[in-house]
Amino acid sequence: MQPIVLGIETSCDETAIGIVRGRTLLANVIASSVDEHARFGGVVPEIASRAHLEAMLPAIERAVAESQISLRDIDAVAVTAGPGLVGALLVGVASASGLAQGLGRPLYGVNHLAAHISVDYLTHDQPTRPTIALLVSGGHSSLLQVNDITGSITKLGATMDDAAGEAFDKIARILQLGFPGGPAIDRDAQSGSASAIDFPRGLTTTNDWATRPYDFSFSGLKTAVARYLESAPKYVRADVAASFQEAVVDVLLLKSLAACKATGIDSLVIAGGVAANSRLRAVATERCAKAGIELRIPKPDLCTDNGAMVAALGSLMLSAGKPATRGAFDADSSLPVEQVSL
Ligand code: KG4
Ligand code: ZN
Repeated sequence: MQPIVLGIETSCDETAIGIVRGRTLLANVIASSVDEHARFGGVVPEIASRAHLEAMLPAIERAVAESQISLRDIDAVAVTAGPGLVGALLVGVASASGLAQGLGRPLYGVNHLAAHISVDYLTHDQPTRPTIALLVSGGHSSLLQVNDITGSITKLGATMDDAAGEAFDKIARILQLGFPGGPAIDRDAQSGSASAIDFPRGLTTTNDWATRPYDFSFSGLKTAVARYLESAPKYVRADVAASFQEAVVDVLLLKSLAACKATGIDSLVIAGGVAANSRLRAVATERCAKAGIELRIPKPDLCTDNGAMVAALGSLMLSAGKPATRGAFDADSSLPVEQVSL
């Protein structure tokens, strides 16, 4: 029988519990406090922490019931130790420590970003060779070389200003599309033209390709959109949404495929909340097929924050024989992406 791992995720506004048996997903319960933050136009850390405290026990109970197991069947507990909002992370770490200690089971404090990537291995086979990973979420955008998701990740590049998801959220606010902005722009763009406005692709000049080929910048794009709206008061919102989205998608994939080519790695994983974007998924599928690159993207509901991804990484750590996190540990709000676990 494969080991059962319970994963706890509280790095932002989702109190999320996932349970896996080996690589089979048994439960994926998400209690989100997003509605409580919407009127502030962004996540308020204190509200998120309090919501985690209230949601934690019911979410664990529901996940255990949905999995048709009892708490005692759990072989290991995994928890997001960082990066994220420190107060929010602490609720998860304290809950996971209590649960692991009470059950007498090992506890893995894992990296939220590595977890985003590893959730893919619940649906697709884990690559047996190195892969390039494009990680695009609300707080991070990076290009990584993943040699082994349980311990060997190299950063090739990252955003120099806004994260990709943050850019979606900011533009959605300007376009009065609400929060979170990614899904709203995705929806609005369906009826717009992606070629209506030629927005800039950040860090793609000849000099940029020579000096920072795998870094991203979205602040110039944000300014360009704001200027366009000022200059064209009768703009068609769906066209702006679609053209903005196209600029983000284009540059993300240009750099991802360039990284594959330069490293000779013919496998690409796209993960994080922005990987749920329908245009990114479609263009990635097209361009990877053309370039002979094997593409993996988790199902859309596993791209945004969830507990299954934490359980998945815990399960991979356990089966790889990686040591559990020893003793009491703190959450690390700025845990670097290369550090897969504590
Ligand atoms: O990974 P995630 O759930 O949380 C973080 O770790 O940050 O990512 C959230 C981000 C938000 O910025 C949200 O707007 C974006 O992912 N997002 C999307 C879509 N769904 C979520 N962006 C573009 N298109 C989407 N469909
Ligand atoms: Zn995330």
